[in-house]
Amino acid sequence: MGSVNFKVLPGVYAPQEDTALLAGALSDESLPPGAAVLDVGTGSGALALAAARLGGRVTAVDVSRRAVWAARLNAARAGVRVRVLRGNLFTPVRGESFDLVLANPPYVPAPGGGHRPRGAARAWDAGHDGRLVLDRICREAPALLRPAGVLLLVQSALSDPEQTVGHLRAAGLKAAVIRRQRIAFGPVVRGRERWLRQRGLLSQADNEEELVVVRAELPV
Ligand SMILES: C[S@@+](CC[C@H](N)C(=O)[O-])C[C@H]1O[C@@H](n2cnc3c(N)ncnc32)[C@H](O)[C@@H]1O
Repeated sequence: MGSVNFKVLPGVYAPQEDTALLAGALSDESLPPGAAVLDVGTGSGALALAAARLGGRVTAVDVSRRAVWAARLNAARAGVRVRVLRGNLFTPVRGESFDLVLANPPYVPAPGGGHRPRGAARAWDAGHDGRLVLDRICREAPALLRPAGVLLLVQSALSDPEQTVGHLRAAGLKAAVIRRQRIAFGPVVRGRERWLRQRGLLSQADNEEELVVVRAELPV
């Protein structure tokens, strides 16, 4: 995934453990030649570039103008073709379908989660249960998949991966958690650790966060 040429612009999510966990799952997929790939919430474009290097025809979407610039810049610097569009989730690709959809969305539960996240926090804050964007992906992504198409999504155990798996199965997909990794609390979780414990999302004994990758496939 990494490249010495990779640029992270201020205010754009820098690739982290979640990015790397999803990139690992991506590298296990066998993409048909010229497969249509969508990276939704592309940030600086790390996953989009990784998919393009595997031979995908990649579209990347982000709601953040800065992220769109960063992803375009990184694709140009890497000499890789990626179509980068600005917009809300799947709106810019309405009417299109994909062999693979990648998503590392905002998934951290946020105090005062009724407010729409602003600025850099749009990359991680996801409402009081962390599922603001995850639930939309579960509702909308199945219709974008081609037969045998795959959704790969990374999230925290703090935002209930079982719900993700359940929603995707209910939509007719074959879904399961395929990767897990425990990581040290980052600055965002550390900053709201007390609130997460009060809500019972972290137990008193928890001193790490678990990330998971959910894989969901549309049967042929
Ligand atoms: C956790 S970051 C992931 C960035 C990158 N994919 C990675 O793995 O490093 C989430 C990204 O989703 C974008 N995002 C948040 N809400 C979105 C929405 N409704 N539609 C499109 N992008 C969104 C944020 O701007 C941010 O770049």
